[in-house]
Amino acid sequence: MKLETKLLQVSTIGDSCAVLDEAAAILRRGGLVAIPTETVYGLAADATNPAAVAAIFTAKGRPQDNPLIVHLHSAAQLPLVAREIPETVRMLAERFWPGPLTIILPKTDLIPSITSAGLDTVAVRLPSHPIAREIIRRAGVPVAAPSANLSGSPSTTTASHCLADLNGRVEAIVDGGPCTVGVESTVLSLAGKPRLLRPGAVTPEALREILPDLELDDAVVSQPAPGVRVASPGMKYKHYAPRCQVFLLDGPPERYPGWVNARAEQEPGVFALCSDEDLPLMRCPAVSLGPRQDEAAQAARLFGCLRTLDEQGAQTVYARCPQKSGMGLALYNRMARAAAFRILQI
Ligand code: TXA
Ligand code: MG
Repeated sequence: MKLETKLLQVSTIGDSCAVLDEAAAILRRGGLVAIPTETVYGLAADATNPAAVAAIFTAKGRPQDNPLIVHLHSAAQLPLVAREIPETVRMLAERFWPGPLTIILPKTDLIPSITSAGLDTVAVRLPSHPIAREIIRRAGVPVAAPSANLSGSPSTTTASHCLADLNGRVEAIVDGGPCTVGVESTVLSLAGKPRLLRPGAVTPEALREILPDLELDDAVVSQPAPGVRVASPGMKYKHYAPRCQVFLLDGPPERYPGWVNARAEQEPGVFALCSDEDLPLMRCPAVSLGPRQDEAAQAARLFGCLRTLDEQGAQTVYARCPQKSGMGLALYNRMARAAAFRILQI
């Protein structure tokens, strides 16, 4: 049966906010609700309820072997879901929680195997978004939430993008305005040697201040070869893909506008995905991610821009390749996947 999806507006985050109680009640009775977080919108359900978690996989069309992140409202809940908690977790939590860092640890039996896709680990995160925190607190259970998009399409960073993907698939969407970070959390595995599985706003440089021996998983900057076992199952799937064909252009920054303009003269439907500084130089339709040096601003806009390019009828998109350090690494990781690793040297 198709659900009637309600769009819920939050007026205040105070105790009397009925919308937050309504969202928490949906979670407690095993339903699905999309909630804002500081990174992207999440498609939330009770992480301890196997039927509710199964409904997440169905609503998103997500492969069953891709585990979910479990969201808590307080670090005091960690022993409920994680069996072993190394000392470094306390230091990481002090510095980065609540915030866009997910940590993978050995799991307890409270987390059913459908949530962890059969792994004996659990990915845990404490979001900083006040609405997310308050809904999780009121629900009183750990909350599983993958990004609230259809599997394969760009993650959603506004309630209207969420509605476009999930209308009729969730009971409600809580509108918390645009997400400020805009790309999903950093995923760090501490279930063995410290390993970065997905880059995000908590950068490898910042993590190395606490974990000097942090390694980057190959999937951070390259495409896993078919059939190879990957540490983070999500990284092997097609991701963030708009309908248009995206190419990343890597090379001296000043070459970008001329290269794209020349291409646009030969090919129909070419768009540039560029920076503010490029806009006056472009002679084809162009969408800007933001100021060239402001990678945080670009990350906040990335998924929205990918959706805009489709809405505007782009067929081929030539995007500026970001740097592979700091916040740029998170941008690069998402853009390279959106481009199915079509990276051209110019
Ligand atoms: O910012 C975020 O993390 C958002 C918001 C909603 O919190 N959530 C999110 O979830 O991005 P999702 O499901 O789209 O991405 C979770 C990633 C996937 O790549 C998954 O494979 C990986 O984390 N993951 C989850 N549990 C894991 C585990 N136990 N071991 C390895 N990778 C895991
Ligand atoms: Mg996702």
